[in-house]
Amino acid sequence: MVDMQLPDEAISYQYQSLLVPTLEDWTTAAELRTQHYLSSAALRDLTPRLLQVRSQVATERELRQVPPELQPLEAAFIDLPQKHLDQFRRQGDTSVLGRVLAAATRLREQTDRVVVLGVGGSYLGARALFEALRSAYHNELPAEARMGVPRLYFEGNNFDNDALQELLDLLQSTCVDPDIREERWGVITVSKSGSTLETAVAYRTFRREAVEFYGGRSDRLNSLFIPITGPTGKLRELCKAEGFTDDDIFTVPEDVGGRYSVFTPVGLVPAAVMGLDVRALLLGAASMTRRFLEEPFDRNPVLQYAAVNFLMTEQVRKPLRLLSIWSKKLEALGLWYDQLVAESLGKQGRGPTPLSSVQTRDLHSRGQQFQDGPRDKVINNLVVKAPRTPPIMVGMSDRNQDELNQYNRKGLPDLMDAALQGTERAYGDVARPTASLVVPTLSEHTMGQLMQMLMLATVVEGRLMGVNPYGQSGVEVYKAQMRQVLKGG
Ligand code: PA5
Repeated sequence: MVDMQLPDEAISYQYQSLLVPTLEDWTTAAELRTQHYLSSAALRDLTPRLLQVRSQVATERELRQVPPELQPLEAAFIDLPQKHLDQFRRQGDTSVLGRVLAAATRLREQTDRVVVLGVGGSYLGARALFEALRSAYHNELPAEARMGVPRLYFEGNNFDNDALQELLDLLQSTCVDPDIREERWGVITVSKSGSTLETAVAYRTFRREAVEFYGGRSDRLNSLFIPITGPTGKLRELCKAEGFTDDDIFTVPEDVGGRYSVFTPVGLVPAAVMGLDVRALLLGAASMTRRFLEEPFDRNPVLQYAAVNFLMTEQVRKPLRLLSIWSKKLEALGLWYDQLVAESLGKQGRGPTPLSSVQTRDLHSRGQQFQDGPRDKVINNLVVKAPRTPPIMVGMSDRNQDELNQYNRKGLPDLMDAALQGTERAYGDVARPTASLVVPTLSEHTMGQLMQMLMLATVVEGRLMGVNPYGQSGVEVYKAQMRQVLKGG
């Protein structure tokens, strides 16, 4: 297959700034750097082990019989983007991607509002894509500006009564006549296990609401609901009882875990409904898998990110991993990343604590601590190099009481860049370790690369730590206790 990636679309990881400089004169800051930065030798020494882990992760994709010490193993996400694209080319409409596109077209044509129900890995990826690639004001835009894309809402991720009621109120007050497309709504419900209580209760609530709105015998009860679930489970059984066929239900493959599932129908159906180019998304992800498997360390952001962050946690002893996000539009990507790291690596009393923070906003709240608080963090900047829209200029004004005329030729991207550089200098001067993950611009293709890169790096890091990056037995503990409480035990 021809690699459609242009060199300037490729994301990169720039970590040299957190390496202990060689031949630095003694100063207090230089001394601090020897304690809080990473030595090039440590990184070099890790290389053989890192390459061994890459081979191990590559081999795990092919394992048919999984030995007990590797269970659970959910490595299918690695090859899935390319598999989807190949299957679509061969089988067209009957492929998973073909079915995703058809279902999304149906919802777009038939409804003007879509509620996505799901929690954790069954929701955060779709939300990250929505916020990154659609207008922050998408739901308020007039229909023409939305170009046939319905308004989108996320629910089923909480037991918050008021929040759920507010969405039901909105639907009840804006959707009165079910025969008008602009007043119809649909639901995508996502739960791999099919038994997550937040999502299951929300699904039941929206079914009840739909019966009331469309009528108990309406075809729309099924044509405007899209279930996405694992091969077996309560949600699948319920949907079958409601008249959905297996073809109406999208399957989350057994060997793909929730937080690694954004390139299964879990993320692809919402992405297609929101009008994103899902093929570009998958091409970006597939190109990252190829880079991971084929490129040497120097051109391999997966290996670089995994190795540097592993050593910063385990050797330089930085328990907090801050993703410092220099784009408001990637805030939800930060939530998605928090889950990825917390659930994959927070095991056996170990693992970095992820924290995401949006700049420049949080420089005005958390910045003090980053500069001067405990030396417990490694900071990964997530930088979007160029905006998708033309720069908004400061410009000249007759009234210069704000003294901004001196910056009249600067645009917002220049100010953002100055803030980033200024912050880098400020942290560098006091030996606070930072590195930067650089995304050329926001697009489906770069989001595909970025998400696949972070998922692969997390798996590699888990293997380096000797911790299974798949599975989340810890999350199940509270669920069991909650069910006991509900049963009065
Ligand atoms: O990563 C995971 O597996 C979890 O966060 C799940 O995605 C989350 O608990 C939701 O589970 P389910 O999709 O089974 O409803």
